[in-house]
Amino acid sequence: MMDVTDRHFRYLMRILSHRVVLYTEMLTTGALLHNCPTRFLAYDEAEHPLVLQLGGSNPSELSKCAIIAQKAGYDAINLNVGCPSSRVQSGAIGACLMAEPSLVADCVAAMKEAVDMPVSVKCRNGIDELDSYEHLHGFITEIVAAGCSHVIIHARKAWLKGLSPKQNRDIPPLDYQRVYRIQQAFPDLTLTMNGGIKTLGDITEHLRHVSGVMIGREACNNPYLIAHIDHYIYAEGAVIKTRSEVIQKYLAYIRQQMSQGVALKHMTRPLLNLFHGVTGGKHWRRTLSDELRNHADPLNLIEHCIPHTL
Ligand SMILES: Cc1cc2nc3c(=O)[nH]c(=O)nc-3n(C[C@H](O)[C@H](O)[C@H](O)COP(=O)(O)O)c2cc1C
Repeated sequence: MMDVTDRHFRYLMRILSHRVVLYTEMLTTGALLHNCPTRFLAYDEAEHPLVLQLGGSNPSELSKCAIIAQKAGYDAINLNVGCPSSRVQSGAIGACLMAEPSLVADCVAAMKEAVDMPVSVKCRNGIDELDSYEHLHGFITEIVAAGCSHVIIHARKAWLKGLSPKQNRDIPPLDYQRVYRIQQAFPDLTLTMNGGIKTLGDITEHLRHVSGVMIGREACNNPYLIAHIDHYIYAEGAVIKTRSEVIQKYLAYIRQQMSQGVALKHMTRPLLNLFHGVTGGKHWRRTLSDELRNHADPLNLIEHCIPHTL
């Protein structure tokens, strides 16, 4: 998620779960090929398994980016065919590409040819008038034939004209049944459900029908949900870390990053919602948002304002 799943957010997620697969923010081919790749591609080894999400529609540029990603050590590539932003549409990136299945298939094939790593596609249920099950089925058929082994579907269509990106994440209704139908039609495809997933119950229910789930906003709004995934979903009997243990580990990371010159302000945001829904959560959030900036010993302040929860 743009401006959310930066490397610091992902590091917090990895503390919360050893198993979940982490995705970067979308990186356009233009940014990767024409600006400084090292800055955009940097991550911590602990983040694996880690997928780089690319935005683009030029097969040759995407294959160059895939090679860069492979050299940088990413575990897989994901192509964004779901973002409805008009800025993105004007560069022929994102959800507008659902109208061009053959072009997306060419992009997938070019990346598969260039690298030896999985290539997935994240798309929508449909866009504008191209909103039928048959269109989605045809789209998936073409990209799977081109070598796409994993598809993530945000289970709501996007209205490219008329709705803002934010509205496109809430207004068109979710249609999970359509995604379940696609999984039935492609039983060997790794198919991941995305959209509106908020609880462990939601996850378990979807996993009865599809191969995986992707959680977006809830990982940001209620990050402690992710602390339960290893134990309840991967069923490993993994110990669920307390919030306090999570914070201690994240503080160690903050100290290490600060020693390399990273400013604290870039690293506190992922912590803001860690006490979502529990007593003291608002005070914690307010302290981190308002008081850290001018505090003489901000890390000490963080440690001492941890709410006591059960
Ligand atoms: C702030 C924000 C930024 C996002 N950026 C991206 C992005 O870069 N790439 C992408 O595929 N989806 C992006 N999304 C969409 C989410 O990945 C997800 O598909 C959508 O929010 C629905 O899932 P959710 O209900 O679990 O959040 C973004 C969503 C938000 C809220």
